[in-house]
Amino acid sequence: MVFTIGLLGLGTVGTGTAEIILDSEGRNPLLQEIKIKQVGVNNLEKPRSVTLDPGVLTTDLESIVNDPEIEIVVELLGGLEPARSLILTAIRNGKHIVTANKAVIARYGDEIYTAANQAGVYVLLEAAVAGGIPVIKPLKQSLGVNRITSVIGIINGTTNYILTKMSTEGLDFADVLAEAQELGYAEADPTADVDGGDAADKISILAAIAFGERVKREEISCEGIRQISATDISYAEDLGFVVKLLAIAKGGMGQSLQIRVHPTLVSQDHPLANVNGVNNAVLVEGDPLGQVMLSGPGAGKGATASAVVSDIVNVAGILKSNSQGKDLDPHLSCNHDNYAQLMPLAEITTRFYTRFLCNDVPGVIGYLGTCFGKHDVSLESIVQIGFQEDLAEIVVVTHDVKEGDFRQALAEIENLDAIASIPSIIRVL
Ligand SMILES: NC(=O)c1ccc[n+]([C@@H]2O[C@H](COP(=O)([O-])OP(=O)(O)OC[C@H]3O[C@@H](n4cnc5c(N)ncnc54)[C@H](OP(=O)(O)O)[C@@H]3O)[C@@H](O)[C@H]2O)c1
Repeated sequence: MVFTIGLLGLGTVGTGTAEIILDSEGRNPLLQEIKIKQVGVNNLEKPRSVTLDPGVLTTDLESIVNDPEIEIVVELLGGLEPARSLILTAIRNGKHIVTANKAVIARYGDEIYTAANQAGVYVLLEAAVAGGIPVIKPLKQSLGVNRITSVIGIINGTTNYILTKMSTEGLDFADVLAEAQELGYAEADPTADVDGGDAADKISILAAIAFGERVKREEISCEGIRQISATDISYAEDLGFVVKLLAIAKGGMGQSLQIRVHPTLVSQDHPLANVNGVNNAVLVEGDPLGQVMLSGPGAGKGATASAVVSDIVNVAGILKSNSQGKDLDPHLSCNHDNYAQLMPLAEITTRFYTRFLCNDVPGVIGYLGTCFGKHDVSLESIVQIGFQEDLAEIVVVTHDVKEGDFRQALAEIENLDAIASIPSIIRVL
């Protein structure tokens, strides 16, 4: 059999995808039956590192999604449009979709999956979260019989690289970001990475799969790493923590779902603490399984293309087994259409690390303790670390507290004459 596919995009991931398909020896035998008919790009003159047959490259992307011979459309353009419209047209034309585009799925997943279910086609997206690490299929299939209680990920390689480098070399955020941009680990516009949006896109996808409910992306609370300083990383280390940008989805078992992305202090002996550099990891906890951590390269040409091509082979396998025309396999399709009710941030329970700069007046530690106590915020430790010029630097770590109570206490503390500023507030896992 021959399975005819069309690629939309021949950039980093598109090139890796074409390379695997064109060099099939020693890999899954189904690859030999996959034929790339057309590849859509912006610029036909651009030099390409992969050699395609004449006429395969085109700038007419509509012709790919409307081509009756093409059975699988592989969307590797990135961004929202024209990716969304092309995916929807391809679905309406009865084509299966493989995509690496978390942004489009996080925002338009409901529209895309509703259309796919109506058309009886699959939309597979293993590469959209954590690049080469298999997370989507394990969550849907291998772990699917567990009652999942949490999915916690380091799922943005750029921020993990920056935080790792800040920690190992004692550098500040801006210096490491500039270096990461030079090395190609960070985009010229790093907003989606450093402000947490990319991780929020990905955790919305993981949460929907793990908890079986659609998630409204705009409801996810999201904080990035711009405010993290070398000082906080160093103090965190003294307290036995590392700083990581975590994407957290928790709930299930009758609890409402909480989904958030923020820098987090992680105990140095926690499995996620040792995931460094551009690597990604996803820690899944469920009943009766306990904990499983999936980790590895979260981006890059080969790793991401490996996930894309595995999805293509998955669809080809389904087409080959002749099960098309029957109901969609619930292991691979989206079979929920209700929306998750997310817990407001004020209701979540977590620990906090907070650094205060205080005028050096007697009794300031006492004031802090009293204020926190008044709002039911119990403290694990409160330590004067040193001085910054003539201001005393005090670090407080709370026990598990309700975020709303903590914020009320802080609002009161901010108004104390003794408090000059509160340079950092970081949640603790
Ligand atoms: N890079 C990674 O490591 C990685 C990891 C995980 C997921 N992803 C996801 O994979 C997708 C692709 O990423 P990438 O890094 O491969 O992107 P990329 O290198 O920027 O490549 C994008 C490709 O799409 C083409 N393209 C973009 N807009 C187009 C348009 N309007 N019309 C025609 N062609 C268009 C470009 O054409 P030209 O070549 O002519 O410019 C290029 O070939 C994104 O959704 C990304 O989030 C990437």
